[in-house]
Amino acid sequence: MKKADRLNKLEMSKIRMTSKKMDAIEASGQKIIRFTYGEPNFNTPDYIKEAAKKAIDENHTKYTDYTGSPAFQAAVAAKYERENGLKFKPSQVISTHGGAQAAYLVLTTFLNPGDEVIIPNPMYNIYRIIGEICGATVKEYKLKEENGFQIDLKEMESLITDKTKMIVICSPSNPIGSVLTDENLEGLGELVKDKDLIICSDEMYERLTYDGVQASSPAKFDTMRDKTIIINGFSKAFAMTGWRIGYVITPEEWFEPLYLHTGHQVSGMADFIIEACTVALNDEPKYGTIEKMRAEFDERRKFLVKEINSMKHFSCLNPVGAFYIFMNIKKTGMTSDEFCDWIVENYGVAMITGSCFGSEGEGFVRISYASSMEDCKAAMEILHKADEDLTAQGK
Ligand SMILES: Cc1ncc(COP(=O)(O)O)c(C=O)c1O
Repeated sequence: MKKADRLNKLEMSKIRMTSKKMDAIEASGQKIIRFTYGEPNFNTPDYIKEAAKKAIDENHTKYTDYTGSPAFQAAVAAKYERENGLKFKPSQVISTHGGAQAAYLVLTTFLNPGDEVIIPNPMYNIYRIIGEICGATVKEYKLKEENGFQIDLKEMESLITDKTKMIVICSPSNPIGSVLTDENLEGLGELVKDKDLIICSDEMYERLTYDGVQASSPAKFDTMRDKTIIINGFSKAFAMTGWRIGYVITPEEWFEPLYLHTGHQVSGMADFIIEACTVALNDEPKYGTIEKMRAEFDERRKFLVKEINSMKHFSCLNPVGAFYIFMNIKKTGMTSDEFCDWIVENYGVAMITGSCFGSEGEGFVRISYASSMEDCKAAMEILHKADEDLTAQGK
């Protein structure tokens, strides 16, 4: 039996494939420093684990409403008001199986075959694949290093047509670590204010920003407020990747199709996880665990940026968000794929090839500094050696 035609372009995540390859290399005895997964090396904060244990003991083990619960919805709304200065009604919130299902839900709820969805290039690649599964035409706007990885508004204008149903933005960006400026978002707002389309805003990393930068949601701007569906979750900021929990915040008019559809996709989230996440959102200001993790990421980020930019063949812009560095490797003369193979096979450092995030990722590799400072230090020593070896080869 053949799979459904709409799944023809389905492929294994290159990030997962790289990790499997690393497992195989390590099984043969070679030690590898992994800069691959976007997974914090921290454990989930204790107070959240305790809340989950307590919830199980109190028999929060039943079906949940697809929204999560009224308390969960209220906690999300309160978080956005407190931290992001944005007022939403709790009734605009729907729980999801991580950020990944949130993306699947939003795109599959609205995109018909023939609709156009405009996504960033480079971009964490679930959006391209889901758009294709929907049979939509996936168009891309380029985020270029020479533009500080901001949206080129002229290009964006040229991509928007009567068929454009959705524009995806992701700030802070995976894989770049860049943050869209308010000025850039204002420009986007001017372009779309009279258009009948959805802004799908992936805000998975909005708590992880540096150098005093804040990542604004497009919902902050009057021009986009009623068009924006926010995707957010717990995986990155709360170090809860394995809990598989996230949420969307939607304008009221789009609530019903999202709510009904997610019911058929996942039938609600785990009861005790909803309880624990409600505690996480409400009590985090008391514990400040995100800030502690963020401060450690920041230390690694500063160290890596300084080291990388001191080498001859590598460079990077200062990334002010997420936990990624998009390292420019063009001076090595290798493609991103070649470089990733070369650096892991000869030096034991694993990175993700930029090309797996889109054509604009060619010439770059993604470094995830969600691993430890110890790994960052060891990897930079090795990278210096690789840099010297390239120089010795006349490159
Ligand atoms: C930009 C972005 N969106 C969504 C996700 C998916 O998040 P989750 O692990 O909560 O499914 C990720 C995970 O890497 C991501 O980087």
